[in-house]
Amino acid sequence: MRDSVAAEKLSERDKKHLWHPLTQHKTSPEMLAIARAEGALLFDEDGKKYVDGIASWYTCMYGHCNPYILDRVKKQMDTLDQVVFSGFTHEPAIKLSEELIKILPRNQEKLFFSDNGSTSTEIGIKMALQYHYNKGKKRNVLLAFEEGFHGDTFGAMSVSGLSVYNGPFEDFFIEVERIPVPTTENLDEILNRLKERLQQNNIAGFIYEPLVQGAAAMKMHGAEGLDQILALLQKHEVLTIADEVMTGFGKTGKYFASDHLRHQPDIICLSKALTAGLVPMGLTTCTEKVYNAFYSDEVAKGLFHGHTYTANPLACTAALAAVELLQTDEIQQNIKNIIGWHQDFNKIIKDHPKVKETRQTGVIYALDLNVQMERYGSLRNKLFEHFMGQGVFLRPLGQTIYILAPFITTKEQMERIYEAIEKALEIV
Ligand SMILES: Cc1ncc(COP(=O)(O)O)c(C=O)c1O
Repeated sequence: MRDSVAAEKLSERDKKHLWHPLTQHKTSPEMLAIARAEGALLFDEDGKKYVDGIASWYTCMYGHCNPYILDRVKKQMDTLDQVVFSGFTHEPAIKLSEELIKILPRNQEKLFFSDNGSTSTEIGIKMALQYHYNKGKKRNVLLAFEEGFHGDTFGAMSVSGLSVYNGPFEDFFIEVERIPVPTTENLDEILNRLKERLQQNNIAGFIYEPLVQGAAAMKMHGAEGLDQILALLQKHEVLTIADEVMTGFGKTGKYFASDHLRHQPDIICLSKALTAGLVPMGLTTCTEKVYNAFYSDEVAKGLFHGHTYTANPLACTAALAAVELLQTDEIQQNIKNIIGWHQDFNKIIKDHPKVKETRQTGVIYALDLNVQMERYGSLRNKLFEHFMGQGVFLRPLGQTIYILAPFITTKEQMERIYEAIEKALEIV
């Protein structure tokens, strides 16, 4: 009995009990079973290999099963696996805080741990709401960009503008108002509208994905307009929350997307590449000013939010090793190389008749196809199958094909991605 189960393919066994994220199981094809991964490569259960062109949702930026990170985490496993982080502390969390503070935007002082990207933004939102509450001010509205994406928990969903995911839950959301991402054409209008709106003094915080909106299909905006919006909001005591869950840790060419701006956020949300794809962890960092609004003789003014695995020592160790790798000359050089390769590829592809627009920020490269298609429609599935057939894992979003490969991707592997994209233009 046991042997017959083992002989069945993983993709078959998967169907019996598993429910996958972002999936309509009735219409979607069966899941591809990945047996192992190494560097920029994934290997399926039949041994076929794929270049991971999106670093498994932007997590494994230093490569899968990176030996440096694995070695550190294995050692940590023999020392301390898990301990409650309320009333206790440990060296991996302390060391990580010391090292991260050195590379975070300079105004960041305090770190609050959680489990994933959604919880990191949820906590950022709660910090902003309670900050004003603790000061005795009634500010109950949040501001967010149209088409932003900040996660799947209720606060995060409320501020996310991508309604494809939100339909059944919208009646239960916190109050949010939206502004478009700034362009040279609309900036004055946004600022004027905001100046008027801010007179009501009830906006608690503004959450935004700086420079690149990932789930909105790698939509990009310039630093200048965002800087002016941040300046205005900060003048009116609106807490600014940079959701760097996707953009953090080198992807924009600097350690953080916020490093491209003059105005630093009050709060930063981090996850994904934070732990290099090894284990989940979220982090919400903030300034001394934010922290001080919670620091009080009144117990109830504290931030009463806590997850069981907060600051898990293994996750902190993975993050510490990742932060060390990020700062090495080798990874910094790789980032420069990838930026250059994408620029060269862009020269070849940008005038192709099937290409409507291309854009790049750091190692993030995106192109919009000159065709109409739905976000999860049949052409998207055809493209996905094409890429997998070519041995490349890319996950088109609507009419957008994007690359966000690990920093350790070789030139040859990146060329396989470029060739697969060029071939895709022949089938759309
Ligand atoms: C900008 C941004 N914020 C938040 C999230 C949510 O992170 P998680 O999926 O870890 O909950 C994501 C995930 O893609 C994201 O891109």
